[in-house]
Parts: sequence; C-alpha cells; structure tokens
Amino acid sequence: MDKFVIEGGHKLSGRVKISGAKNSALALMPAVLLNNGINKFENIPEVNDIFTMIKLLKHLGVSANFENNSLELDSTNITNQDAPYEHVKKMRASVYVLGPLLARYGYSKVSMPGGCAWGPRPINLHLEALEKLGAQITLDGGDIIAKADRLHGANINFDISSVGATGNTIMAAVLAKGESKIQNAAIEPEIINLCEYLISMGARIDGVGTSTLTVDGVDELHASNGEIIGDRIEAGTLLIAGALTKSKIEIEYNNINHIETVLSKLKDSGAKISINNNIVELDSCNIDANAVHVATAIYPGFPTDMQAQWIAYMALASGTSKVTDNIYTDRFSHVPELIRLGASIEQVNNMAIIHGVKRLKGAKVMSTDLRASASLVLAGLVAEGKTEVLRIYHIDRGYEKIEHKLSQLGAQIERVKTTEF
Ligand code: EPU
Repeated sequence: MDKFVIEGGHKLSGRVKISGAKNSALALMPAVLLNNGINKFENIPEVNDIFTMIKLLKHLGVSANFENNSLELDSTNITNQDAPYEHVKKMRASVYVLGPLLARYGYSKVSMPGGCAWGPRPINLHLEALEKLGAQITLDGGDIIAKADRLHGANINFDISSVGATGNTIMAAVLAKGESKIQNAAIEPEIINLCEYLISMGARIDGVGTSTLTVDGVDELHASNGEIIGDRIEAGTLLIAGALTKSKIEIEYNNINHIETVLSKLKDSGAKISINNNIVELDSCNIDANAVHVATAIYPGFPTDMQAQWIAYMALASGTSKVTDNIYTDRFSHVPELIRLGASIEQVNNMAIIHGVKRLKGAKVMSTDLRASASLVLAGLVAEGKTEVLRIYHIDRGYEKIEHKLSQLGAQIERVKTTEF
C-alpha cells in the first residue's frame, strides 16, 4: 500500500504535458471486440484502470502488448464472452464489453456492477437500449446474460444522457441489421473519440458530436488504429493546482476546447489564462481566488469529475461558494476529509457550501475515490506542514504519474510505502 506525503506551501512553476484520457481509452479498447485483427492505439495512459481493462480483454482472448503509451490489441482469437465479477468489481467500465460482445458473438455474460463509493450507479439505460436492439436480457446469480441471434436497428431515446450507455449502445448498433437512431446521446469528447474510432473500423455513424446519432449497421468491421484524446480532467486538475498554490504554470494539451467551462470558471475566480496553440498558461501569482459557484452538468457543462477538485480550490477562496453536483448527487466523500485539513464546508443534499478560510493545516486524510483523492492532493499542496494522503490506489486508477508531474512543477510530494490503510 502506498501513501503520498506532501509538504505544503511550495509554489509551482513550469510546464507539464497532459496524458491520454483514461475514460476515452476505456471506451475504445473494448471496441476491438467488434473486429478481427490487430488494432494499435496511441496515447494510452499508464494507469491502473487501463491495466484492469487489458486483463479483462485478455481473459476474453484478446492478446495485448502495452509499451510507452502504445497499446496493441489483437482480437483474432476471442475465446469467451464472459466478464466475471473479479474484473467488474474492480472497475465499472468493464461493462463496456457487453455491447460489442453481444453484437459480434450474439452472447455476452457480464457480472452486474454493484454500487460505488458514492452510491448507486445503475446500468438500466445500457440494458434497456440493448433490449430495444433485440437482445434478450436476464439476470442470473449476479450476472447479466444478453443473447440475440442478430441485433436489429431501433429507435432509442435515453431519458438521461449517459456516457456509458451511449458508448455501449453505439458499439452494439454498429453491427446490428438496419438503422438505429440514438436520441439524447452523450456528446462528451470521449464518445466522439469512440465514434471516430468506430468509423475508422468501417462503422457508419452520422451526427457524431450531436445528441442524435444515426447508426447504419454493417455486417462486419475491420481492425483499425486509434489515438486517444488528451485527458480534460487531468488538465483541469493540474490547472487548479496552479491556481490554488497562486502560481504560474503551463500545461501542454491538444484539446483546449474540451476544458472551456473549467477555464471560464478559473477566470471568474481571478486566474489569468492565456492560450497559445496547445499551451495553456495559468497565472495566479499573488491572486486571492474569488468564491465561484459551480453546478455540474453533462458536457459541455462543468464536469462532475472536477467537482471535488473545485471544492478544494474554493476552500481557500475569499467568500462563500456553492458547488452542486447534479450528475452524482452523493459524490461528496472528500468533504469530511477536507474538513480535517481545516476547510469549512457544509453539505446540504447535493450541494457543498464552502466558506473560504485563510489557511489549511496538514493532516492525515484518506482517499475514497479517484477524484476525491485528487482533491486531497491539491489541498495538501497548500496546507501548512505535512499532509499524508492514504489509500492512493484510488488516484493510481486514473492519473498517470501524478506525483512526477507535480514534482516536475516544484511540489514536494513523495510516494511512500505504508502498512496504514
Ligand atoms: N445513469 C442511469 N442509468 C444508467 C447509466 C447512467 O441512471 O444506466 C445515470 C447515472 O447514475 C448518472 C448519469 O446517468 O447520474 C450519468 O452517468 P454516466 O452513465 O454518464 O456515467 P458513466 O458512463 O458510468 C462516465 C465516466 C465517469 C464520469 C461520468 C459522468 C467512464 C469510464 N466513466 O461514467 O468517470 O463521472 O461518465 O461524466 O467514462 C471518473 O473518471 O472519475 C469517473 C467516475
């Protein structure tokens, strides 16, 4: 077990490069189950969720070679269509194999994901959409069993915009017989990345980037190569690190339009932002952050995956801010830990009310999920003295070499082995 030991109070400076988006990679990798051959991906982040997906794909018969952020997946010899509990319990995104396996092999058995650290995360929309495409779905001993001779096109209108359900449905519809219309589809950049990859495999998808997708099913798809977009959440997290520590930093990031909402909130807080091609400079030197409210929303709104980090930022802002999570209404496990560091936060239903304080003080805190851990690391960068962040296996799921990137910017952060849990 590892922990981070952070010595707060150091200014940051310099430039770091943003890694590939794990949430894009997790959507594109299972898409190889739709084809038969060698697929190469560039810009895959080396994080634990990617290793978990590789293990699952290997279990299904895919062979994998992962080196220097390049991943080769050979889908020629798929040997089974069963994603067991041991994989799914580690990572909910394992459910992404359901749609492609069903579409290609007419059968898929995937362990039903349970609740997560911040409450229920249902997959009813995935299952309802697959049923509309002609799947017979049963639940048996905690497993979802989906069967279909051949899926057929259908009209699917999601009640809620869901990244995962949209991804799964598209991956099923691309091999269905006939046309499918998917309405209220997610328009997150990771879904666009997935659609573009599927199109490169021979899929016919219209309306990419809009909430209405038309998929004209084809009989087969060929292997193809894909490039993972930059991680907008890592970009936002590191920019907040700069703003919180009142520093001037730069990030190298290719998809600046994906973080417009976060940049606009950072500007509202007083940070100076300048953009030059693929470099974003944030200058918060000597700037006391203003309190800025945020409410999470589907893309292009403020991402739920940045909510915890924004609360850490607002903990030291001048005034009171309100942070509302409309996507995951219970995602606030970082709040009591931030309070241990001296933050003044009340939680009312799905809203955190943050009364900015003058200082935080280092303490031992515990990570509870990926983005919560990021918020604790950020707070540790400004808390006086030493902060120890325990259970950082959560952060290792989704941030590539976070301590190296922060050290490169001048933070005092060290990974230490511990028996503490
Ligand atoms: N929802 C349902 N039924 C469903 C699916 C979703 O009611 O069948 C609801 C959810 O409860 C939630 C909303 O729809 O209120 C949106 O959830 P969505 O399905 O979009 O989330 P997801 O696909 O499970 C992805 C990311 C999450 C990110 C959310 C929201 C991946 C692998 N995960 O999850 O990322 O928070 O979209 O943007 O892409 C993270 O990286 O830390 C993370 C949790």
